[in-house]
Amino acid sequence: MAANNKEKDGGADEPRIIWSENRDRFETEDKKAYLEYHLQIHGNSQIMNILHTFVPTSKRGLGLASHLCVAAFNHAQSHSLSVIPSCSYVSDTFLPRNPTWNSLVYKEDLKSSI
Ligand code: COA
Repeated sequence: MAANNKEKDGGADEPRIIWSENRDRFETEDKKAYLEYHLQIHGNSQIMNILHTFVPTSKRGLGLASHLCVAAFNHAQSHSLSVIPSCSYVSDTFLPRNPTWNSLVYKEDLKSSI
């Protein structure tokens, strides 16, 4: 059985992003650009903690990281996951530029853990 699932089949000018379930990543076909996450459970919430985003130097500034994030957030939405944006690219650049995705961001109830 194939290990990879196509999470998003982009148009002619969009990079194809693949969900690599076994590696907890969304990545380009050549695997050189990726978004790495960790799935965790807080109470009744299933959470995608986005740990790291990486794009090779030669491909930076073209929106590739943004495409990786869109694939990850679409996946989170369709699987009813909340998102923790631990990666600074997601928290400081992607979400401010794409605020509609803030609705998926996990809001921790600190009191419940005391
Ligand atoms: N934190 C937040 N924002 C960052 C950033 C970081 N560490 N590094 C770059 N950015 C911003 C840039 O300021 C740039 O803004 P601009 O459009 O005004 O120039 C923007 O990201 C570019 O967006 P995009 O083209 O979608 O990103 P990218 O494909 O160039 O990839 C990174 C961005 C961060 C993934 C890439 O620079 C990288 O791999 N850096 C090394 C690893 C890293 O620092 N990862 C993030 C922390 S986990």
